[in-house]
Amino acid sequence: MKTTVAGPSYKEMLHPELLPPALRRSAAEAVARELDPLNLFNITWRGPDGRIRHVVLPKELTGVEANIVVLVGRHFPSGSHKVGPAYCTLMEGELAGEIAPDTSTIIGPSTGNFGIGTAYISRLKNYPAVVIMPEQMSRERYQRIRQYGGELDLTPGSESDVILVLERTEHYKKDPRNKILAQFELLPNYRFHRYVTGRSAIEAASAHGDGRIAAFVSAPGSAGTLAAADEIKAAFPESAVCALEPKECSTLFNNGRGTHRIEGIGDKMVTLIHNVLTTDYVIAIHDDDCVAGLELVERRAQLLERIAGAPAGSLVELQGIFGISGICNILGAIRLARHLGLGPGQNVVTIATDGFDRYPSVLSDLARRRGPLDDPALAGWFEEIFRGGSPQDILDVRPQPQKERLFGYKQRVWTAFGYSVAYLDSMKSQSFWDAEFEKIAPIDEALLARR
Ligand SMILES: Cc1ncc(COP(=O)(O)O)c(C=O)c1O
Repeated sequence: MKTTVAGPSYKEMLHPELLPPALRRSAAEAVARELDPLNLFNITWRGPDGRIRHVVLPKELTGVEANIVVLVGRHFPSGSHKVGPAYCTLMEGELAGEIAPDTSTIIGPSTGNFGIGTAYISRLKNYPAVVIMPEQMSRERYQRIRQYGGELDLTPGSESDVILVLERTEHYKKDPRNKILAQFELLPNYRFHRYVTGRSAIEAASAHGDGRIAAFVSAPGSAGTLAAADEIKAAFPESAVCALEPKECSTLFNNGRGTHRIEGIGDKMVTLIHNVLTTDYVIAIHDDDCVAGLELVERRAQLLERIAGAPAGSLVELQGIFGISGICNILGAIRLARHLGLGPGQNVVTIATDGFDRYPSVLSDLARRRGPLDDPALAGWFEEIFRGGSPQDILDVRPQPQKERLFGYKQRVWTAFGYSVAYLDSMKSQSFWDAEFEKIAPIDEALLARR
C-alpha cells in the first residue's frame, strides 16, 4: 500500500517558524533536492531569513509616487506560488477521505503553473498525475510537467481556451478514481490566497510608507490570488482592489472574448471562486505591452536603467523574478496608482506569480513581430508601456449593475457545469466567503492531529 506524505497546515505556510525546529531545518536543506518531499514545508512566501519575499520597484521605473510592492512567487517549490493552491486542494481532499495514494489519480486542469504545481505535489505525495492544458502554452511549462513525472493531455488553443480544458475535465470525472484539483471551482484555492497570500501581503506592506495597503492588483486566471483582497479589505476597508485583463480578452471588463499572449490569466470566464463583491476596478492591459515589457525588464535592464534614469544596478538586480503576468500586474499597479492619484507613502501591492525561467521561448519572435530591437526603438517602448495606458481602459465595477453583470456571467458559465442557481446566489453575500475562510482552523486541527 502506498502512503501519503504529510505537509504543512495553513498556519504553518504563513508562519513556517511554527514548525518543529528540526523539521524546519531539514526542510531548508531539502531546497537543494527538488524532489525531496520535505519541500512541502517550503510552501511559503517567506525566505530563509523569515521575511516575506518582495521588492519595491524604483520610482524611476514606475513614474508614480506610491510604492509599488511586488510579492515574489518564483521561489516557491516548483517555481510559482500556484503550488500552494495545488497542495491545499490535495491536502483537503485527503483529510476529507476523498483522495488516497493507492487508489487516486490526480487531475490538474490548468494553463500551466497550476499544472506544474499539481504534477510536483503529486510526485512528492506519491500520486500519479495528469495535467490537462492548452497545446499552445510556453514549451518550458510542458518540460517541467514531464520532469516531475506528470502526464500531459493537451486541448486545442491557447490561454483563453480554458473552457475546453474544463470540458475535457468532465470526461475524467466519469472514473471515480480520478480526483480533480479543480482550481477554478474549489475553495482551498480561495483559502490559501486569502489567508497565506493576503496576510503575507499585509506584512510585506507594513514595512513601507504608511504601512497600509491602499490598493491590491492582480490579473486573475483562477482568481485565487485575488482572494488575498478579502483579507486586505478586512484589514484596510478603504483599499481599492483591481483585477487586470488582457485587452484582447476583456471578459470582466465588457464580456469580451479573444486570444491573447499573457499566459496564466484571462481565461474567458468569471471563475466560480472569484468573489466579485470585493473587486472594485477592472483594467484592460494590451497583451503585447506585457511581453515587450518583459523583454525590457529581463533582457535590457541596463538600457532600461539609462532610459528611465534609475540608479545603476537597481533594475539589473530584479532580473529573473518576472513573467509576462508579473509585468501585467506591475503595469496595472502603476495605472491604478495614477488613476487614484495615490501619493508618497501609499502602498500598492501586487504579485509576480512566476519567474523568467519559463518564458525565454516566448520572447524569441518579438523582433519578428515588432521590428528591430535597437536602442531608439526600445526607448519608445518604455514610454508607451510604462507611461502609457488610457483612462478608457479602467472600469469601476463597484456599482450594482456591474456586479449583476458579473454575477450573471458567472451563472451562465457554472450552471452549464452543473452548479445550482441557489449555490451561485449564496456567493452574492460576503458571509459565504467568510464561512469558507472560517474552515481553515478546523482543517488545520485535523491536519495536525493526523500528522
Ligand atoms: C503566470 C501566471 N500568472 C497569473 C496567474 C493567475 O493566478 P490565479 O489563478 O491565482 O488567478 C496564473 C495562474 O495560473 C499564472 O500561471
